[in-house]
Amino acid sequence: MSVKKYIQDNQEKFLNELLDLLRIPSVSADPKFKDDVFAAAEFVRESLEKAGADQVELCQTAGYPIVYGEKIIDPSLPTVLVYGHYDVQPADPYELWDSPPFEPVIKKTPRHPEGAIFARGSADDKGQFYMHVKAFEAMMANNNLPCNIKFMIEGEEEVGSEHLDIFVKENKEKLKADVVLVSDTHMISLEDPSVTVGLRGLSYMQVEVTGSNRDLHSGTYGGAVANPINILCKMIASLQDENNHITIPGFYDKVEEYSSEYRKALNDAPFDLDAYKKELDINDVHGEAGYSTIERVGIRPTLDVNGIWGGYTGEGAKTVLPSKAYAKISMRLVPNQDHREISKLFEEHFKAIAPTSVKVKVTPHHGGQAAVVSTDTPGYRAADLAIQEAFGKKAIPTREGGSIPICSLFQKELGLDPILLGFGLDTDALHSPNEHYGVKNYYMGIETIALFFKYFKEQAGK
Ligand code: BES
Ligand code: MN
Ligand code: MN
Repeated sequence: MSVKKYIQDNQEKFLNELLDLLRIPSVSADPKFKDDVFAAAEFVRESLEKAGADQVELCQTAGYPIVYGEKIIDPSLPTVLVYGHYDVQPADPYELWDSPPFEPVIKKTPRHPEGAIFARGSADDKGQFYMHVKAFEAMMANNNLPCNIKFMIEGEEEVGSEHLDIFVKENKEKLKADVVLVSDTHMISLEDPSVTVGLRGLSYMQVEVTGSNRDLHSGTYGGAVANPINILCKMIASLQDENNHITIPGFYDKVEEYSSEYRKALNDAPFDLDAYKKELDINDVHGEAGYSTIERVGIRPTLDVNGIWGGYTGEGAKTVLPSKAYAKISMRLVPNQDHREISKLFEEHFKAIAPTSVKVKVTPHHGGQAAVVSTDTPGYRAADLAIQEAFGKKAIPTREGGSIPICSLFQKELGLDPILLGFGLDTDALHSPNEHYGVKNYYMGIETIALFFKYFKEQAGK
């Protein structure tokens, strides 16, 4: 296959281009990087144009632009809509990185003996969506693009895809396709390639607990006036019982219970609990009683404090009874749990359990619905066949714990199941210091994506 040869012959060029993209600190959460986020959009626009896309444009939104481009070779052929994001998570805390987050370097790791690219966004999602641009380039250069293709690469995924909603709703005709293809997830390993068939939803809340109207001397008032930090800790602790079951009334009402066959199939996927614990340096795992680690992440909802602050945290000791305490609390949701409903249940419950000695404010942040995709579609079959050809093994369907809220929007608005063909590993440190992406994963991804197009044309049967 000449496409494969083109990919092999251009490995170095493909890698260097990705490194250039990774040098742009396109952090969508922090306005300080505004110009860089726009620069990354421009980079994507140019790369699509160079690869041979038509109608390439920056679709402006009230936030960061969506980069669009397409190649319609024959309207009677199936169309693949590629989604990805060029924005990245903040790199903080910088001091925990072994090398600067926006100066990519390639180093070997135990799971990436052939080298991995260390940089913020390398796996999430620049290194992954860029594989699609390169697979497209390879197919174009060989006059061998089997399907029509549309690209939609956004710049606000890491802050909740706020403006993508309207864009998708207003551009249904433009985005019309037969399948959505997304590389923004993990696979088990290069030895056990997998395709993600489920993602969790998300409800994210901020809470503020106020005691007295000002900070107080903790001797003069301590013991007589509520300490909002003590209260907040008690309230948070009460949100889970001794089985790590969430205590918010109604929280589990819509959670789907799976058959023992389904659960067995999930648990049959290769998973080494000892290696998992060792890699994280933990003596034991933790979670809802009655479920395995795979199930806790894949099919069960959860609640976690992401940050908590208040009072004095500087040098030495200051005796103070703080006026306020805060926490950021996220709930990962499963299919059928509506994130708005859950946010409301949380707010009601959190207010109900607050003692009268404090005032409580609850503010929701962005959220999103979970998504499950069928394995009985032309898209899934094409992904499986592509993996079989590239890796010599059938794909294992897996359910992942992360969230890509836009996936349920594709299902609802475009009627399309997204195919989650990701090539990262769960140890790639997404959102953490030292994020990295395997060089081999990058090349295998490009090859597999090109094969997907070949098989999708067959499977979609047009
Ligand atoms: N690519 C991730 C989602 C992901 C990671 C899915 C790993 C499966 C495995 C995405 O960029 C992300 O970080 N999503 C956020 C949610 C978003 C609303 C900020 C998340 O999952 O926290
Ligand atoms: Mn991502
Ligand atoms: Mn992310």
